[in-house]
Amino acid sequence: MLPLLETDRLVLREIGERDFDAVHAYASDPEVVRHVPWGPNSPQDTLDFLAHCMLAAAAEERLDYVFGVELRDAPGLLGSVGLYVRNADEGQAMLGYAYARSAWGRGIASEAAREMVAMGFDVLGLRRIWAACDPENGASRRVLEKLGMRVEGLLREDTVIRGEVRDSLMWGILEREWRAASALETTNSSARSEG
Ligand SMILES: CC(C)(COP(=O)(O)OP(=O)(O)OC[C@H]1O[C@@H](n2cnc3c(N)ncnc32)[C@H](O)[C@@H]1OP(=O)(O)O)[C@@H](O)C(=O)NCCC(=O)NCCS
Repeated sequence: MLPLLETDRLVLREIGERDFDAVHAYASDPEVVRHVPWGPNSPQDTLDFLAHCMLAAAAEERLDYVFGVELRDAPGLLGSVGLYVRNADEGQAMLGYAYARSAWGRGIASEAAREMVAMGFDVLGLRRIWAACDPENGASRRVLEKLGMRVEGLLREDTVIRGEVRDSLMWGILEREWRAASALETTNSSARSEG
């Protein structure tokens, strides 16, 4: 059983059929999908995504953890964040996220991604979490950098985004790096509160 995933401002919760309108609104927005290989979603694409989230949540051995993100004090799904475990024995998962444009620039993606990475290491016992982004996706690069991820390489001509061949910038963080950064953050925040 997963713990309730909450941050100071956010609740991360399972996605279901009731989220169709909110998910479809952002996933069919050409600006939201500009740097990703999927979308803009048709209604069927969004139904398929919701079905995938629900099937994954019900699986006996869960691999994909895709959560809707809401503000605690203003319910309404703003976007989604997911950890996709491809091979449980290897202890690795891919991080991904997408949000409605109205949610951008408020630190929401970073806050939710941080909670997911913590869950990946603390609850799922992962060893490595990685992400891939379009090198031109400045906001996503910054989210990954703020998480403490490192650039591990550039896969040349790895992705096709609506007919355009693109490179993928690969990022990763190891469990021990996450722990070291968290310990440093705890030390710094106690020093701030004492000083
Ligand atoms: C990428 C995305 C999730 C970021 O969401 P967000 O809620 O705006 O993210 P945050 O506010 O937590 O952080 C964004 C950071 O990027 C910075 N940023 C925004 N646009 C930027 C740009 N064009 N270039 C560089 N940095 C940029 C912001 O200033 C902020 O950094 P700061 O906290 O140091 O000021 C959002 O833009 C999105 O949903 N995009 C569409 C889907 C997508 O591209 N998903 C990622 C696939 S890899």
